[in-house]
This record gives sequence, C-alpha cells and structure tokens, in this order.
Amino acid sequence: EDDEGGEDRPPVITVMGHVDHGKTKLLDQIRNANVVAGEAGGITQHIGAYQVEKDGRLITFIDTPGHEAFTAMRARGAEATDVVILVVAADDGVMPQTLEALDHAKAAEVPIVVAINKIDREGADPQKVMSQLAERDLVPEAWGGDTIMVEVSALENLGIDDLLEQLLVVADVEELTANPEGRAMGVVLESHLDVGRGPVATLLVQRGTLKVGDPLIAGAAWGRVRALVDDHGENVKEAGPSTPVEVLGLSDVAGAGDDFVVAPDQKTARSVADQREHYQRVASISGTAAVSGGGMKLEDIFAQIQTGEAATLNLIVKADVNGSLEAVTESLKKLERDEVKLAFARRGVGGVTNDDIQLAVATNATIIGFNVRPDRKARELAQQEGVEIRTYEIIYKLIEDIESAMVGMLT
Ligand code: GTP
Ligand code: NA
Ligand code: MG
Repeated sequence: EDDEGGEDRPPVITVMGHVDHGKTKLLDQIRNANVVAGEAGGITQHIGAYQVEKDGRLITFIDTPGHEAFTAMRARGAEATDVVILVVAADDGVMPQTLEALDHAKAAEVPIVVAINKIDREGADPQKVMSQLAERDLVPEAWGGDTIMVEVSALENLGIDDLLEQLLVVADVEELTANPEGRAMGVVLESHLDVGRGPVATLLVQRGTLKVGDPLIAGAAWGRVRALVDDHGENVKEAGPSTPVEVLGLSDVAGAGDDFVVAPDQKTARSVADQREHYQRVASISGTAAVSGGGMKLEDIFAQIQTGEAATLNLIVKADVNGSLEAVTESLKKLERDEVKLAFARRGVGGVTNDDIQLAVATNATIIGFNVRPDRKARELAQQEGVEIRTYEIIYKLIEDIESAMVGMLT
C-alpha cells in the first residue's frame, strides 16, 4: 500500500493480545515515558491511538480494546497496521485470544513482535511463553528463530525501551512511505456521539493530508472538517500519513473499520454518503468507488481507463464459506492499481439472491460467485436488469479474469 516515491512515514503499530494481559498498561507506560508530562488527558485514552517520539522519530500506536475494532480493520485488509505487538502475560501464558490475535496478524501478513509482559509477577515464566509460541511457528531469536520477543513489565517499566528499539528495527525493514500530497484517505478507528461536539470520529490518515475545511466521507457519514484534534487534545490544521486525529463536523457516527476519503467537493461527499447510508444495513461499501462517480461495470472499465481517469470496479462477491470469501477478496484487493480501484458493494456468504441483484443495480456492480450460483429468480432478475454475474470454482481463474478486465483485455 505504500506509494511509490512517497515520503517516509511513522510506523503504525497495533497492540493485540488476550484480555488483561496488559496491552493498555503497556501503552500507558510507553506514552508516559515519551510524551511530555501533563499532555495526556481524557482524549488520548479515549481515542486509543496516539503518537510517541523515540530517538527523534514518531511511532503511531493503536490499542485494541477487545478485538472487534481490529476485526473490522482486518476486513479492510489490515492496511492500518504495519507491525503487531502481541502481548502475552508471562504468568498466564498463551490463551485463546492470544491465538486469535496471532491468526489475525498472520492473515494480514503483518510482522509480529512479542512482548512478554508481567515478568515482575510471581509465577512469571517467560520460557514457557516462548515454547508455547514456538509451537505456533513464532520461534524466538534467542532460539535461532526470527521472532523478536522482549520481556517487559508494563507495571514496573522494565524492558519498554528495548521493546521500542526493537519495534523501530522491524519497522525500518518495511521501508514505510506514503504520499503526503493530495486528498487524504484512510480508516476510521473509532467514532462516537459527543453531547457537546456532535459526532466525533477518530481517523488514521494513510495517504495525503487531511485539512480543516476538507469535504469528507467517512463510512456513511459526510461533512466538512470543522476541526481536527490531535492525540494530545490540541487543535491542529492538518494531519498527514500515519497520523491519528479526531475529526469534528461529520453528519453522523461512522463505523469503526470504515474507510474515509476526502471528496472533490461537498456535494459529492453528501451524495456518496447518502448512497452508502442507503445500503449500510446490507452492504459494506468501501473504497473510493462512489467518489469516482458510482463505479463502473466490468465491460466499461477499459474505456474509462483510456480516458486517463481513474476507474473503479464495483463488485459484489458471494462465496460458499467465509474462508473462501476472504481469500477471494484479499486476492482481488492485490490487483488494485492507480488506474483501477476495486470497491466491494457487498461481500457475503451464500448463493446469489434477488437482493444481490438489486444492490448490483443500485451500485452498478458486477457480481462474482465463488462456488455459489444464482437461484432461478435471481438469474431472471439479473437478465432483466442487465446485471452481470460471473461464477467460478477455481480461484486463480477468477483472479485472472478480473485482472484481465482491469487491464482491458477481457474477452
Ligand atoms: P483488555 O483491554 O481488557 O483486553 O486488557 P489489557 O490487555 O489492556 O490489560 P490492562 O492493561 O487493562 O491490564 C490488566 C491488568 O493487569 C491491570 O490491572 C494492570 O495494572 C495489570 N498489569 C498490566 N501489566 C502488568 C505488569 O507488567 N505487571 C503486573 N503485575 N500487572 C500488570
Ligand atoms: Na483490561
Ligand atoms: Mg486494554
């Protein structure tokens, strides 16, 4: 996802792990150790995302309060995260949510650094944690593997500095860049209704620079950015790549994991958001699809590309099981390029239904079925409405086809 020729950006590091293993405490400690005293305050804790400085470099941290927010983010392709810190309590060892977090990180192909926490505790057994993780293919460097594991105590501030140093080493390997120019886009980390301020969304900017006054679409919410508040509670005029920021001025509460994008103008922002809202119950429209004018059908994509303007291919993907759905959508996302973006009007498990056809009509989407077929009624409606349904049983055939469409060679 890093832009060619972009500029260096801070790494985005997500802290995951089993409940009460000390994720938040660890981040509190990191923040206290690095942020000027007195800067904390309600907001920082509230948003669960902030930047700290280490050796003159910024690092962005995201806490995961329960795993739901991360699941939503992962559904967006885990673009938000560059590195995962897996926190495992040394007295408790590997637990169910540890494994779940591990699966998320692996699926997202994000490097993992393990923080073995609570080493101050009686009964702490870091060696046991290491062998439990080694069984899951996370072999510590100390044992000849390539997983960095750092023993820490978030409570007693032990090993934290070492952990930060190791994180920067891992982040450096990633060579993280992003283009700070142009309209901002990124992901909604969190959103809530504030009695005084109205809807407040915490955004992580991934590309471009978000500015006060920008017309914005965040999930199904829209508006003009009235104010930007940084992780210290300070008002700022703009926020560049890897910066978490609170935004005021949205019409509504956006969903965690939704993406946001700056629209060319207020009118577009509104109509896109209206469209999204209309389908929100049944769809998770993502990407910049509607921004570029409602998306395109497969057969029109090449013509659009030739005009020199970016095109968006709107898809509805239906598959037999969740695993294949994920595999299909993840592979499809890898096909994205500057000239052609993909947007999923819906991703779901099950056969192709009338409801899918109706959504396809409304969003100008092509339907892809993987190991599923349309029922008779859906087939008839599709024919009537001119909706294209393409079904596949082999994933690489599916990918090949869509790739061909995207380079304008579909036959
Ligand atoms: P969830 O967000 O609920 O999943 O929990 P968490 O992983 O964020 O854990 P949290 O930071 O809330 O810590 C849980 C408890 O463990 C708190 O009482 C912490 O004070 C305590 N704790 C965290 N780190 C340490 C540590 O290094 N040593 C000891 N002794 N206690 C710790
Ligand atoms: Na807790
Ligand atoms: Mg916590």
